[in-house]
Amino acid sequence: MPRIGSQYLLQPIINNCLGPKLARPSSFPLPLSPSGSGSYPPGGERLILLLRTHPSSPIRPIASAASLPPPPTPNEVHIKVTMDRLADAAHLMIVSDLDHTMVDHHDPENMSLLRFNALWEANYRDNSLLVFSTGRSPTLYKELRKEKPMLTPDITIMSVGTEITYGNAMVPDDGWVEFLNQKWDRKIVTEETSKFPELTLQSHTEQRPHKVSFYVQKDKAQDVIKALAARLEERGLDVKIIYSGGMDLDILPQGAGKGQALAYLLKKFKAEGKSPNNTLVCGDSGNDAELFSIPEVYGVMVSNAQEELLQWHAANAKDNSKIIHATERCAAGIIQAIGHFNLGPSVSPRDVTDLSDSKLEDFDPAYEVVKFNLFFERWRRAEVEKSELYLANMKAVCCPSGVLVHPSGIEKLLGDCVNAFRTCYGDQQGKSYRVWVDQVLPTQVGSDSWLVKYKKWELSGEKQKGCLTTVLLSSKGVSVPEGLTWVHVHQTWLDGAGPTDDSSWFF
Ligand code: GLC
Ligand code: MG
Repeated sequence: MPRIGSQYLLQPIINNCLGPKLARPSSFPLPLSPSGSGSYPPGGERLILLLRTHPSSPIRPIASAASLPPPPTPNEVHIKVTMDRLADAAHLMIVSDLDHTMVDHHDPENMSLLRFNALWEANYRDNSLLVFSTGRSPTLYKELRKEKPMLTPDITIMSVGTEITYGNAMVPDDGWVEFLNQKWDRKIVTEETSKFPELTLQSHTEQRPHKVSFYVQKDKAQDVIKALAARLEERGLDVKIIYSGGMDLDILPQGAGKGQALAYLLKKFKAEGKSPNNTLVCGDSGNDAELFSIPEVYGVMVSNAQEELLQWHAANAKDNSKIIHATERCAAGIIQAIGHFNLGPSVSPRDVTDLSDSKLEDFDPAYEVVKFNLFFERWRRAEVEKSELYLANMKAVCCPSGVLVHPSGIEKLLGDCVNAFRTCYGDQQGKSYRVWVDQVLPTQVGSDSWLVKYKKWELSGEKQKGCLTTVLLSSKGVSVPEGLTWVHVHQTWLDGAGPTDDSSWFF
């Protein structure tokens, strides 16, 4: 059992008959610490536990039931976990629209998105917050996530700022729903809009509790908006009508919208004493305009922004030096803004050709993971030379007795895995093969060791495979330029993302 400071890495092989019981976290019998790490393989054969001794935390007496405050609801607990992921204020909070902003629908290779992903995971994930703010309903948002190599945001704002959810489980903010119910009557909106033949109802997935959406031709939009606003006011409703993309018309409660949802979040963080040090909003169309009117935030309108947003900017914010119109499209425009406003590192590891040459000042476990996976992509695409030196360097950073627990459950020596790389050099050359990592979260578990958890995805043609990966990295006895030592790697197929044939998964 390897000891890491005051902690132990335990990897028992669980007897098969216990496997199914251990497969589900909910049936796990041990209380895990909130930040504790446990891996639950679907087959239940292997389990890694990182145990920590707590010399300084004596067992406290339990307070009497009468003095306890009412227990928080499960949703409140989830929200708090997301809000408290960072111990301090976020270094940077990015609030980005998706279609034609984070995601470029005219870039089949998704290069700018992948460049942003690598930058975010290597430099920001651990101390910053990623918020996606989209006009899409949860249904269409989930569809987009399947189509494009997108990261997982900390907070998701959907349906034009009418639905806010937190974390991977996308737990809804009930407080926001309650707030939006004021002065809103969906029935009156549908009644009045039915009197306008210029309006064509969007698909049923896009009709949400606080959002009614139509298509309307560009040349008719302004007149319809005016007449409709007057009608709804007469009926006692206080609504917001937003025109986007030269075709979409959304009707929302006055208190809703992308900007209002952001203001609500900022207020929440402020109440916790954790206002982000910097906030950058990113958008391309009409429904993004109000993001740019939130005080204090930096803003980027991507180069491909729609006329309606540029017009709004010219009329309302042209003297605000905290807002730029990027010269780069979509996610490349976001990277450009990070650099322009000096918000932190703005060179994506994908733009660094010689990954071994980067001048790190300190050990950086997240960068290490991003760099390794990027190298693997380049190796298989034959974008780096087929040199024994690379393999030797890679072997040098593997602990000689280090093991990879392959997602199939088979254990391999790390050195043998590196040897196997020889067989896959260039096997994806000329194909649309890409590798990216998501939610790279390192935890320092000793003075010279880190446990890094992340999702590793591979896309080859139409096929996408993903593994939840846990890596133990050590800086013991090595200098910064030599790089961290890989001590242990454990991978588990992500839900439904495993292949039918797992021999093609190398690392
Ligand atoms: C997204 C939504 C749509 C909305 C549009 C503009 O495309 O799916 O319902 O009208 O954004 O906000
Ligand atoms: Mg957009």
